[in-house]
Amino acid sequence: MDVLIAIDGPSGAGKGTVARTIAAHLHFKHVDTGAMYRAVAWRARQLGVDLADAAAVAEVAERAVFGLSAHIEIDGHDVTAAIRTTEMDAAAATVARHAEVRRVLVGRQRAIGQQGGVVMEGRDIGTVVFPEADVKVYLDASTEERARRRAMDPAHAAGQAGAMPDHVVQIAQALEARDLSDRTRTASPLTLAADAVYIDTTGMPIHAVVSQVMDLIRPRLLP
Ligand code: DC
Repeated sequence: MDVLIAIDGPSGAGKGTVARTIAAHLHFKHVDTGAMYRAVAWRARQLGVDLADAAAVAEVAERAVFGLSAHIEIDGHDVTAAIRTTEMDAAAATVARHAEVRRVLVGRQRAIGQQGGVVMEGRDIGTVVFPEADVKVYLDASTEERARRRAMDPAHAAGQAGAMPDHVVQIAQALEARDLSDRTRTASPLTLAADAVYIDTTGMPIHAVVSQVMDLIRPRLLP
């Protein structure tokens, strides 16, 4: 099955849950490209590499051995939990601004996706990594809703059930700062591909989003 599904959008728009659920439905591989930027940032930090040094961080990315299944690994370290901290949110956004780092990771992502049977999520999958993807979806939601989801996400260090409203306000501010960085960087800024289907998931339960995306995919699976 050589079908490739691209899911892009800002943080907290539901990309992770939707991509994972659809990949499980279709028995496709799920690739979280944000986790690759996060893992490279983590490894660069660990090696004492200055995150502002694009060439040095790109070398870390070039040499990296990734594990991208249910657990995220880089160079033998399981970083599944370590890459989901507020500090790593900022560190990943910094390394994602470097064109050299992006060139290396985009190459890795194309190699992973070329066989198809993949649901790949990120910011530039439908625009840069796989402009010829079979289905392109751009998931969005209001900042308030995205912050609320992030606050409740147990995978994220900030996630805690029953999070206080002021906590959500802080998350919303951090999300907006990161969105601004992702949208205004010169190297592959977050934008909507001309042929992507835009879905505003504000107020939508996850199963409704999954079902809408599945409706787009189904015709592409026919022989
Ligand atoms: O989706 P995420 O929050 O885990 O992504 C981490 C950072 O990496 C975020 O700043 C956006 C960036 N990113 C990117 O620039 N391109 C991608 N394909 C995926 C993530």
